[in-house]
Amino acid sequence: MVSGGKNAALAILPAALLGDSPSVIENVPDIDDVHIIVDIMEYLGAKVDFADNIMTVDPLGVDKFNPPYELAGKMRASYYFAPVLLGMFKRAQVPLPGGCDIGNRPIDQTIKGMEALGARAETLGGVLECEAEELIGADIFLEMPSVGATVNSMLTAVSASGTTCIHNAAKEPHIVDLANFLSSMGASVKGAGTDVIRIRGGRHLHGANYTVVPDQIETGTLMIAAAATGGDVVITGAIPTHMEALSAKLLEMGVHVSSEDDRIHVRSNRNFRAVNVKTQGYPGFPTDLQQPLSALLTVANGTSIVTETIFESRFRFLEELRKMGANSRVIETTAIITGVERLVGARVNATDLRAGASLVIAALMAEGVTEISGVGYIMRGYERFDEKLRSLGASIQHISEE
Ligand code: EPZ
Repeated sequence: MVSGGKNAALAILPAALLGDSPSVIENVPDIDDVHIIVDIMEYLGAKVDFADNIMTVDPLGVDKFNPPYELAGKMRASYYFAPVLLGMFKRAQVPLPGGCDIGNRPIDQTIKGMEALGARAETLGGVLECEAEELIGADIFLEMPSVGATVNSMLTAVSASGTTCIHNAAKEPHIVDLANFLSSMGASVKGAGTDVIRIRGGRHLHGANYTVVPDQIETGTLMIAAAATGGDVVITGAIPTHMEALSAKLLEMGVHVSSEDDRIHVRSNRNFRAVNVKTQGYPGFPTDLQQPLSALLTVANGTSIVTETIFESRFRFLEELRKMGANSRVIETTAIITGVERLVGARVNATDLRAGASLVIAALMAEGVTEISGVGYIMRGYERFDEKLRSLGASIQHISEE
């Protein structure tokens, strides 16, 4: 059963503070990144209850605009609070984490969006500082369809008077989910999922009851794990249309993929054709599934070319896979992966969330035992990952990092 979308929840939960009454949000994944968001909301003064994947957020006590570094610095998505607090207090100060393993991840487009709506915004000493006497709707032209900049522009625009058009907007399922949540709060948001999102801001927002969309990347990770182990698996609670780019790639590799309603059936005989993959924004092949699929390609018949167009360094995990016998080399943002007969268990280290997932998939295919350190990354983004894989027959134990 797929859990609620991490990247949808990370955008929706800060948005709940904009309402003048409590929101009840269901299908919230119980993962460490969400726990950080809860800690930040409680620090700001909100009352939060979270149990059985249902979160109640009462924003009425929020009286701060500056979450501390020890909370906000843990995760990049905490900057989603900046436009929310800017709209509530006309200013916000949100510390940013450093770069991460997949790239330096600038936020110039977020700043561009806020400034287009009349804010002054800059990063000073690793803190995103913004302020605005008044936010006024305008056109925002993003240089690239940045997910973060689209989210932050949407969250700023709902507090701006007049109409905002976000051009070259990201179209990911979590963008659409945020738009649907804002609409359920009383906002006027049109066009999410297309290149142009039109928001008529300045409207009074109230709390809402909402259910988070299933996690597109968890769904894809489970599909790849099923194929990797020669499994015959039905993944439930999914949205097959969100998975079309991956399904097409798996079919090209010789994996059986079919779907009906909210169920995706994956079956494979572990005999994979090598394929070429190029990551793109939605509906293209998702960059977050590049690492899990690359693990599968290490045992495909032939040589695969993987081109990463979204992040500048998202191949470090291949060094770890080479310890397991994989044959790959990286030239700038392209990986050349030549399939090998088998992988062998080894001690490897996860350097980011999706790298961790790719190492688990490699370990499930390898002969012998693999010990993966750095699994804290995996716990940040996948709910009960080991339990779900065990239910499918995997021999996997999450032991303490010590
Ligand atoms: C979001 O990151 C996701 N995170 C990432 O998922 C995902 O990989 C990424 O979108 C792409 O889909 C969350 O939703 C919390 P971007 P984000 O802004 O918003 C460059 C995971 O594993 N860029 O679309 O940071 C940027 O450097 C995580 O769940 C600028 O140059 O992604 C990158 O090369 C990892 N300037 C590219 O655009 C900006 O202002 C895409 O970034 C913003 C981005």
